[in-house]
Amino acid sequence: SVVEYLDYDAIVEQGWSLDDDDLFEKANRVRFDDATHGTFVVEGDDSVLEAAEDAGFDWPFSCRGGACANCAVAVVSGEMDVFHDHVLPEELTERGILLSCIGTPATSDMQVVFNVKDLPELEEHLL
Ligand code: FES
Repeated sequence: SVVEYLDYDAIVEQGWSLDDDDLFEKANRVRFDDATHGTFVVEGDDSVLEAAEDAGFDWPFSCRGGACANCAVAVVSGEMDVFHDHVLPEELTERGILLSCIGTPATSDMQVVFNVKDLPELEEHLL
């Protein structure tokens, strides 16, 4: 699977919103560095977090086991299978806020916003 990623911090800096329909179109018009916006491939059963690390990126995490929410991403398009999520309530998972440490792509292409641990509604779920 190919994952296109965008850093939530860049969204905040640009004054954009996670709910903008054209988020990735707008990102393509800005020359972000590779750590902020780009694509990588997820091989086999690797989690999205592992694949990001293999590609040389430094995404936030702590427990690596679905219990802390530091690794949360917002899935903007495509789907991710997530196992054993103990922390996020349905109101967030329904919006595509999911854990990248235990998430594997379920579609051939995905767009995700990483670093969403800074979202105000996620703060109370971080451990
Ligand atoms: Fe803790 Fe993913 S790193 S839930």
